[in-house]
Amino acid sequence: MSANLANALAIASGISAHVLIFRVGEWDVASPFILIFYLMIFVTGVSISHTWFQVPVLDTTKFAGYHIFGLYLSILVYRAFHHRLSKYPGPFLARLTNFYITTRSIKKLHLFEEIRILHEEYGDYVRVGPSELSIADPEAVMAIHGYQSPTTKGPWYTLLEPRVPLNMIRNKEEHARRRKVWDQGFSTRGVSSLNLALLGYDPRITTAISQLLNAIDKQRSKPIDVTKWFTFFTFDIMESLAFNKSSNMLAGGEEGYALRSIRGEMYNIAFFAHLPWLLPFLKRVPILNHSYLQFWVWVQDQIEGRVKLLEAYNKSAKTRKDGWDLHGDAHVIIIAGSDTVAAALTHIFFHLAHDPMLVRALQREFDALPDLTPESLQTIDLLDAVINETLRLHPPIPSGNQRVTPPEGLRIGNKFIPGNIIVQVPQYTVFRGIGR
Ligand code: HEM
Repeated sequence: MSANLANALAIASGISAHVLIFRVGEWDVASPFILIFYLMIFVTGVSISHTWFQVPVLDTTKFAGYHIFGLYLSILVYRAFHHRLSKYPGPFLARLTNFYITTRSIKKLHLFEEIRILHEEYGDYVRVGPSELSIADPEAVMAIHGYQSPTTKGPWYTLLEPRVPLNMIRNKEEHARRRKVWDQGFSTRGVSSLNLALLGYDPRITTAISQLLNAIDKQRSKPIDVTKWFTFFTFDIMESLAFNKSSNMLAGGEEGYALRSIRGEMYNIAFFAHLPWLLPFLKRVPILNHSYLQFWVWVQDQIEGRVKLLEAYNKSAKTRKDGWDLHGDAHVIIIAGSDTVAAALTHIFFHLAHDPMLVRALQREFDALPDLTPESLQTIDLLDAVINETLRLHPPIPSGNQRVTPPEGLRIGNKFIPGNIIVQVPQYTVFRGIGR
């Protein structure tokens, strides 16, 4: 066979691999296995062709190089000109690779600001990645996130694989099944050991509030980093409620191991949001994965000390997946009620600090209450409004939760979004509007 024919065949094999295999379905989590598979084929190919057919190693390497060239050429041409999202506007580089959107926010990880700028430039529907649309159309909220929406969760929800926290379960039936246990735990109606535990949490929260007020009191008349103290506050509560122990950050004023390592985890989740195929490598490469592994050892230690949480888990025979699920749910417990509440508190107080009239109005409402209890606070509409308005201005997932359109596509108003497209409603942009 002539060298030219061999090279042409190698390019054709690369194009076929893209068109017939990689273009269909989702391959993110399989990325390390694909690499290993390719390396195995390469090593076997080199050995066989060298030993049996005396083909020089360099020639086989060239063949492999042409295959990869064909593969990437096909991917790039398809994404640039033939993709089903071709008619949607957006930066040209975003059509080709998700590295574009990732590097745009690399400095501050403020992707939501970049997304808003893109919407200002390109309109409500922007192609922010090869198969990704950001949709700043209020009609999209119900179509994508409504209870009856046919969309499913996107590849971002694989970032913690093999662990799957409750909020990251992509299969709706599986989510409903695991959610039942959580609903029991968070309900204050009916009787279950978990909700009895929930009602008993009140005194621990009261202790943390006193510690927070003490810390603030000590720094009276000096500027205070409230982000830090609210984070200590919510993480101390979370550790106490979830794992029955505490790093005592409020008392000691120092960041504990848990918070430091969670920050690293959150960084990964933000940085790799649009590159979910890359994170599996980081998790598996020795040395690079050191802090990742250490974090999960810490999670395992916390779980082992918390027998009550294991009630549902202990009922059935345990598989490896059950263990991962438990790790995943511990992750929800750690993040869901701590980081979110710390951010919300910080933003609420940011706005209160800028609005003395609002502070006085709230104070009047509090003063009029016979006593300050969780129930009586719920009756103050103004407090509700302050919380809701803060969450509008500073939404918890500002660039939007990833969803995937069903294979038959999705209609939003008079727009049709093709099937198997990653869509997200950028909350920060939608809640504030464009150009304000
Ligand atoms: C201001 C406070 C909070 C905000 C802004 C907030 C926000 C959110 C958001 C946006 C999600 C969806 C995540 C996703 O789909 O990827 C979520 C899920 C969840 N949150 Fe919160 N959260 C807050 C407080 C809490 C607290 C205090 C807890 C419990 C201690 C909690 C427990 C959960 C759980 C269990 C889920 C998963 C629900 C499911 O998938 O069925 N959250 N939260």
